[in-house]
Amino acid sequence: MQTLANPQELAGQCRNWHTQGQSIALVPTMGCYHAGHEALMRYGRTVATRLVVSLFVNPAQFGPGEDLDAYPRDEARDEAVAEACGADVLFMPQPGDIYMPDHAAWVDVPDMAAGLCGKSRPTHFRGVCTVVLKLLLLTLADVAVFGEKDWQQQAIIRRMARDLGVQTRIESRPVVRDPDGLALSSRNVYLTVEERAQAPEIRRALRCAQEMASRGEKNAAILQQAVLRRWAEHLSLGRLDYLAVVRPDTLVPLSAIDGPALMACAVQLGRSRLIDNILLHT
Ligand code: PAF
Repeated sequence: MQTLANPQELAGQCRNWHTQGQSIALVPTMGCYHAGHEALMRYGRTVATRLVVSLFVNPAQFGPGEDLDAYPRDEARDEAVAEACGADVLFMPQPGDIYMPDHAAWVDVPDMAAGLCGKSRPTHFRGVCTVVLKLLLLTLADVAVFGEKDWQQQAIIRRMARDLGVQTRIESRPVVRDPDGLALSSRNVYLTVEERAQAPEIRRALRCAQEMASRGEKNAAILQQAVLRRWAEHLSLGRLDYLAVVRPDTLVPLSAIDGPALMACAVQLGRSRLIDNILLHT
């Protein structure tokens, strides 16, 4: 595995591979790897002949007062994990390699970025889209792989790619969870023992809503109330950021479940802001 920091070296390597007729999978990450990242990398390995993993804690997607400086980092371990998962290149640029001091161009999908996580993180998805498009332009990847824990993120990236005519196929992969149902996240390391004990309630309540929907409950407000009631009882340390029912592709809010629907939430648990989602079947 090569470790590169220079964007032009990455672009040159990817051009060479394309010239040789090879295909490239890109897995963009912010590091501090857990089994969820490993699943994305191992999948990427199977869908192209070359695997590029990027590791960049992207300052542009953190708002003022968010955890940019405290974001968990473990680059030595991450390099070993990426190599074990079959990466050909681990791209680890510095912020100055990606953003010029007078950087002024942004990519945004404002309608889809305004709701859900965008309500409390208004510039987050603009930062995500901008860095992801840069990575896609540098690698000209055939396929890019994202996790479904960040459902809103992958939906926005799909729309960005569609609307801008990006040729990379955007794929998403299922959430990887601890045995008790907690979605794996680099931010889980912030949880205290007490918070960690309550955290699986996020998923359990969403599962209850899914069950109610599969038994015929179509009213989104009733499903949301059931989740909130359960959290009031079992997730006393949590503070709700949002709970919403939306169309999975457009993220438009739904009041009735009469087709594909996604329930998504964010809960602040101590220092960790945890997100999760579940598809509701009718
Ligand atoms: O999901 C993430 O880790 C980041 O948002 C991404 C896609 C790597 C962009 O910085």
